Amino acid sequence: MLLARQVLTVALKGPDGMGLRKRGARKRQPGSLLPMRKKSHGQGGAGPVEQKLHEPVMVQEVLDLLAVGEEGLYVDGTLGSGGHAEAILRKGGPGVKVLGIDRDPEALSRARERLAIFRDRLIVRKGSYAQLHLFLEELGYSRARGVLLDLGASYEQLTSPTRGFSFRESGPLDMRFDPDGSELTAHQIVNFWSQEAIEEVIRRNSQEPLASRIARSIVRNRPIKDTHHLAEIVSRVVPRRGRIHPATRVFQALRIEVNQELDHLRRAMDSIPPCLEDGGRMCVIAYHSLEDGIVKRAMKGLASRDPSFRILTPKPLRPKPEEVSRNPSARSARLRALARGAEGG
Ligand SMILES: C[S@@+](CC[C@H](N)C(=O)[O-])C[C@H]1O[C@@H](n2cnc3c(N)ncnc32)[C@H](O)[C@@H]1O
Repeated sequence: MLLARQVLTVALKGPDGMGLRKRGARKRQPGSLLPMRKKSHGQGGAGPVEQKLHEPVMVQEVLDLLAVGEEGLYVDGTLGSGGHAEAILRKGGPGVKVLGIDRDPEALSRARERLAIFRDRLIVRKGSYAQLHLFLEELGYSRARGVLLDLGASYEQLTSPTRGFSFRESGPLDMRFDPDGSELTAHQIVNFWSQEAIEEVIRRNSQEPLASRIARSIVRNRPIKDTHHLAEIVSRVVPRRGRIHPATRVFQALRIEVNQELDHLRRAMDSIPPCLEDGGRMCVIAYHSLEDGIVKRAMKGLASRDPSFRILTPKPLRPKPEEVSRNPSARSARLRALARGAEGG
């Protein structure tokens, strides 16, 4: 297996506790699932600059649980930079197509470019995975063979100085997956919402025990101008807990609120299973307990109400230690899967 021996890893942490990392150069060989380095031209005219792409998590486990075969339509509901979609397209025969959905227009263009070699085996739609049934209808498909949701934010989103997802990059307090969609940004929440409403957002979306103290400090220190300013305000009132940055949970809570992530996930867990064909499978990778709790309850509820659905992962699968040491972003991943139809399907 062509895995990253040459990789030099420097662990960083993302705003939602996801580790990020910088690496040294490594070779990507044809057919390899190593994250691609995209070439772009820097402004200094010094020739092409390579950009690292998001590294997909638990790829082999996803391929096994989706049981990718010779044909069928698979939906990657969180296309991101296309890492999982690439794995599905490579594993599947020429009869396998992928419908890739993402709320983020920048992610869609990256994935389109990366997956151009698959031509019409890739179909791309901008929107939420919660609208998957509508996309299937529009494209004339009645059902899908497999669906993957890899929740949360991508490496590119978390490290972009213009998107405002991370306290590690100085940037505007935006945090929208779709900058053309809703007008609600993190800037509006921290600068204009009441102290009570901010406290509620932090408590509900991150279970931060110091939510009240943080909300008070945010309101007292207005106007809050950017991500670094917010992180500094939070750090003043929250003690550091081990290696986790004090602002981690607050950034997670704001991102969830701005994008209504838990609401989209709840709706998807209702609307996606009926879109699976007989023998079809659904995989969800969650990165924190709020998301994982929603997935677990929805899958259990469905399997107990409707015997045509069965749970493939009585306990969530976790990434192997080798994967976590190669890619610290994977460390909190929990993968759950559901099948429709009889065993063997
Ligand atoms: C962890 S990344 C996925 C990475 C992808 N699996 C890969 O291999 O590159 C999560 C992606 O989901 C997208 N996303 C988040 N919520 C979404 C939603 N409700 N519908 C569609 N995409 C969503 C984000 O914009 C982000 O690009």
